[in-house]
Amino acid sequence: MHQLSGKVAIVTGASSGIGYETAKLFARQGAKVVVTARRAAELNTLVAEIKRHGGEAIAIAGDIRDEHLARALVEAAVDHFGGLDIAFNNAGTTGDAAPVADISADAWQSVLDTNLTSAFLGAKYQLPAMVARGGGSIIFTSTFVGSTVGFPGMGAYAASKAGMIGLMQVIAVEYARHGIRANALLPGGTDTPMGRGTANTPEARAFVEGLYALKRLAQPEEIAQSALPGVRCFKL
Ligand SMILES: NC(=O)c1ccc[n+]([C@@H]2O[C@H](COP(=O)([O-])OP(=O)(O)OC[C@H]3O[C@@H](n4cnc5c(N)ncnc54)[C@H](OP(=O)(O)O)[C@@H]3O)[C@@H](O)[C@H]2O)c1
Repeated sequence: MHQLSGKVAIVTGASSGIGYETAKLFARQGAKVVVTARRAAELNTLVAEIKRHGGEAIAIAGDIRDEHLARALVEAAVDHFGGLDIAFNNAGTTGDAAPVADISADAWQSVLDTNLTSAFLGAKYQLPAMVARGGGSIIFTSTFVGSTVGFPGMGAYAASKAGMIGLMQVIAVEYARHGIRANALLPGGTDTPMGRGTANTPEARAFVEGLYALKRLAQPEEIAQSALPGVRCFKL
């Protein structure tokens, strides 16, 4: 029995890394998925791979900072697949690394928009669709940076991802009575384009790997597996 049979999921940041693997895992577990990111070619490859394995998926390419995209993703879930049960709000960027005093206001805003405002915009449209469905599960990809450890050069990233945890907690208490669960993943260093870009010197990689018991980066498939309990335990 597949864990997500009959469920419909949105996965953002699905063109690579954690989002790509999570979309595949959700589809393997029976969910119909709406995937998004800016790179259409990568999304099309993902959709083709899901379909080749008997799953159902559609892609909508766009910028996660765009409120119209947030609405379009939910409309696609409802129009194509009949509703929305699961939202994995995972798209993110570190921005360019710089000490706080060297971050321009524009660069700060861009990271906040991509990581935090997009999470709010996603939730703003996803939550009413889940209420209409009688319940659901909303998951945000935060990070260890800003919660577990201060990472040099990541002031905007840390602030945006810590803000996401606050948003998640408020959603949890506001929407529990509608059967909606809210959770955040705080992955450690993970072997994706973003993770490799951050741990991009032997010293940086050793620092990140040294933070964890297993002394290695996680694989994106492992983070995808950690998203699954968040979506399968809810009662509808
Ligand atoms: N890797 C790590 O070590 C690590 C650790 C903790 C948390 N995280 C978090 O995990 C999440 C996924 O990252 P990842 O490691 O899987 O890195 P990744 O492979 O680089 O994936 C990032 C995803 O976000 C999308 N994205 C970025 N900016 C976007 C925008 N403006 N509009 C739409 N989509 C956008 C990218 O798609 P396009 O470029 O195609 O738009 C891509 O699909 C991020 O939120 C990240 O902060 C990562």
